[in-house]
Amino acid sequence: MFNFFRKKTNAKLFYSTDVHCHILPGVDHGAKDLNNAIELIKAQMDMGINQIILTPHITKSTFENNPDTIKAAYEVFCKAMETSGLDVKFAVSAEYRLDEFSLAQFGKDIFIPMPDEHILIENAYQQERLDLDDIIFDLQLKNFTPIMAHPERFPYYTDRKERFKQLHNAGALFQVNLMSFTGYFGRRALSNAEWLLNNDLIDFLGSDIHNMEHVEIIRDFIKTKDYRRIAKKLEGRILNDKFNF
Ligand SMILES: [Fe+2]
Repeated sequence: MFNFFRKKTNAKLFYSTDVHCHILPGVDHGAKDLNNAIELIKAQMDMGINQIILTPHITKSTFENNPDTIKAAYEVFCKAMETSGLDVKFAVSAEYRLDEFSLAQFGKDIFIPMPDEHILIENAYQQERLDLDDIIFDLQLKNFTPIMAHPERFPYYTDRKERFKQLHNAGALFQVNLMSFTGYFGRRALSNAEWLLNNDLIDFLGSDIHNMEHVEIIRDFIKTKDYRRIAKKLEGRILNDKFNF
């Protein structure tokens, strides 16, 4: 029977793969439990997502994950998904904060890559690491393609945006957060995101969702003219739907 009370959203994303989110429960400060994860997944599906790469944090002190901790959580998650009836494909990887904890794993060749050997890396927030170029180079030597998670969010790039071009030329791909275009992460992130858009440097869009508040921000944003402008520019250019799951 037609359900008149179901909240409808007509606005859809122009891609169907989310490459960055914190929906895997039990490994970081994203989804609180399986029920919350299902709620977040259903909300993503309403926006047109049918493939999701789970990317929990790996970082010193707070989320000291490794492939074993993540795979154990993923196994529990997959069992629950089997009975959920939701038609979504998943892959599991991580968002590696570039600190001693992650770099120790890289040094020992311990990785949990995204599909097609991509590695999602997250800069330090205070300042860019002096060895960032070396890290990007070394990952490629190991046959990985590094993707920088939300490079627009690092305030130290606002006054040196040419650095984005250097990093991109060095082989790092850029994943920009959709929420950055809303101003949610501040004026600097917004200005960086617009600059990356205008300079054709955006390779992926990501939700980076941790909770329903983030979903609601994205849901509202994709109904706007601003979103349609961004979609028009990036349609056919971003690589979100190119992964082999
Ligand atoms: Fe993230």
